[in-house]
Amino acid sequence: MAFPEGFIQELKTRNDITEVVSPYVNLKRRGRNMVGLCPFHGEKTPSFNIYTENGSFYCFGCGVGGDVISFIMKIENLDYVDAVKFLAQRAGMDMPEDSYDDSMSKLRKRIFEANRESARYYYQTLYQPIGREGLDYLHGRMLSDRTIRHFGLGFADDDWSSLTTYLKSKGFSERELVAANLAVPRRSGNGVFDRFTNRVMFPIIDLRGNVIAFGGRIMTDQKPKYLNTSDTPVFKKSENLFSLNNAKNAGSRTLMLCEGYMDVIAVNQAGFQNAVATLGTALTTEQAMLIKRYADEVIICYDADEAGQKATARAIPILRKAGLLVRVLTIPNGKDPDEFIKSKGADGPAAFKAVIEKSGNDIDYQLQKLRADYDFETSDGKVGYLQAAARLIASLSSPIEQDVYASKLCKEFQVDKNAFTEQLKRINRQRSRENYRREQQKIRADLSGRGDKTDPDKAKVPRSTSAEEALVAYLVRNPDSAKYIETKLTPEQFQNALMRRFYCYFFGRISSGLDPVNNLTADFSEAERGKFYQIYSKHASVAATRQSLDEFISVILEESAKLKPNDVQGMSGEQLNDYLKKLREAKKRKGE
Ligand code: UTP
Ligand code: MN
Repeated sequence: MAFPEGFIQELKTRNDITEVVSPYVNLKRRGRNMVGLCPFHGEKTPSFNIYTENGSFYCFGCGVGGDVISFIMKIENLDYVDAVKFLAQRAGMDMPEDSYDDSMSKLRKRIFEANRESARYYYQTLYQPIGREGLDYLHGRMLSDRTIRHFGLGFADDDWSSLTTYLKSKGFSERELVAANLAVPRRSGNGVFDRFTNRVMFPIIDLRGNVIAFGGRIMTDQKPKYLNTSDTPVFKKSENLFSLNNAKNAGSRTLMLCEGYMDVIAVNQAGFQNAVATLGTALTTEQAMLIKRYADEVIICYDADEAGQKATARAIPILRKAGLLVRVLTIPNGKDPDEFIKSKGADGPAAFKAVIEKSGNDIDYQLQKLRADYDFETSDGKVGYLQAAARLIASLSSPIEQDVYASKLCKEFQVDKNAFTEQLKRINRQRSRENYRREQQKIRADLSGRGDKTDPDKAKVPRSTSAEEALVAYLVRNPDSAKYIETKLTPEQFQNALMRRFYCYFFGRISSGLDPVNNLTADFSEAERGKFYQIYSKHASVAATRQSLDEFISVILEESAKLKPNDVQGMSGEQLNDYLKKLREAKKRKGE
């Protein structure tokens, strides 16, 4: 840990967690805590808690927890050092001299720099003779020079070493270029070559203006059509969107979600800045949550082909779950937005606007799609359709919305509204039974700790783990108890390795007169911090007394005295006797 303790302490004091979180989450007071809808997963009932007494948060829905620094790391997608900088800036604090520069943070910075240099290089190449082919290609796709500059498009030439040579001359090492995925190691193990050649290049820029990755399109029919930067320390495809940096400034709470780079750019050129695209993968929950931060409504503008329609069907529930309103654009004649706009020539922008205005919401869209699956000439077909439609309508959370669609359908098919409503109720009852069962299963799995990678010991030593968890939570809440606990327990008596680490860590900090949780972010992984705040929250409502502390301790002692198969083998006769004696004493104590 490299920031001075006092600096982190002041940083936290001056960045009140409730104030920092407020712009991202609508918080309501509940007792001493604040609650809201978790920004890290989609939910309808709030399970995101802020504990103001110690400046921490925890979500019971997705298990994410931490302090104000980890909150900023996660929501702003920053590493530890940058999150600290972010908060320092927010509070108007200077960073300490010769600040923390861990190697990962340094590498990320170098990758950003290498990417920026590359983007510049690719852009310049486009306007040199060697880039002619690329420029012609982009012009052929009706992009103006203004649009090319606006998106910083570029060209990677045919030579397998031009970018690498250039970046090396700028002082970048091969290791850095490989880490940035701008270069790939030669199979011989000797040197590297350019990742992108003979492609027009699309830089991907994050919300702070960093170039984080590239997409490159080949100019022929060869495959792969697009090549994208693989995941690097600064880029995760599943968590970023192309052109969100432009879209967030569009001044609209509606975003258009397209399938690809060219669609976004064509839509922009037609005058709509609020378009984004996923980067060659299906939409993820992380991306939907990211969109939710800048928009209330999404218009899905996928291709009209079958793949596009499938992707639309998959995207709708993900966007809905993130709390977004959804509309679906239907582009005539099986085109994608880019082709459609182009086909209309000078009327492209107006024609596209008309299509947007005609786009219906997701329920209309899905009800319409469903029709294709049924034959309305037969009664069976009609019944089948109505049942499928009822399942869809039942999934709407707003009763008013349900009623609107139910009425519309009943009128069209001349069925009794009461019967239809009854059907909806039946579906809902069945679903809530299923949800209940699923939740119970999840709770059981959580409690048993089965399959828990962060805390693998929990399932092996459940009884001891419960007591150790309670003890750790007690210790953090009552640092004064450290001295007492020390007289009763040694760390070796903890059966759960993660709890032992927590205990040693907090005990050490308390003994040095430090706030136990001041700097958890620097010393534990995200998953481990989540675990700690889970335990801490679980024990928040239970007012632990000195007496309960003694109970935790006695359970830990009892469990640690139990014989483990591996231990017996290495025991001498004397040790074994000793052990049995302890066991008898423990039993006697229990019997009292
Ligand atoms: P499309 O093939 O629909 O791309 O793939 P497009 O944008 O219409 O491309 P043009 O108009 O032919 O240039 C949609 C998106 O899927 C990703 C890219 O992000 C692309 O924009 N993709 C596609 C890849 O990552 N790799 C591929 O080989 C193809
Ligand atoms: Mn296209």
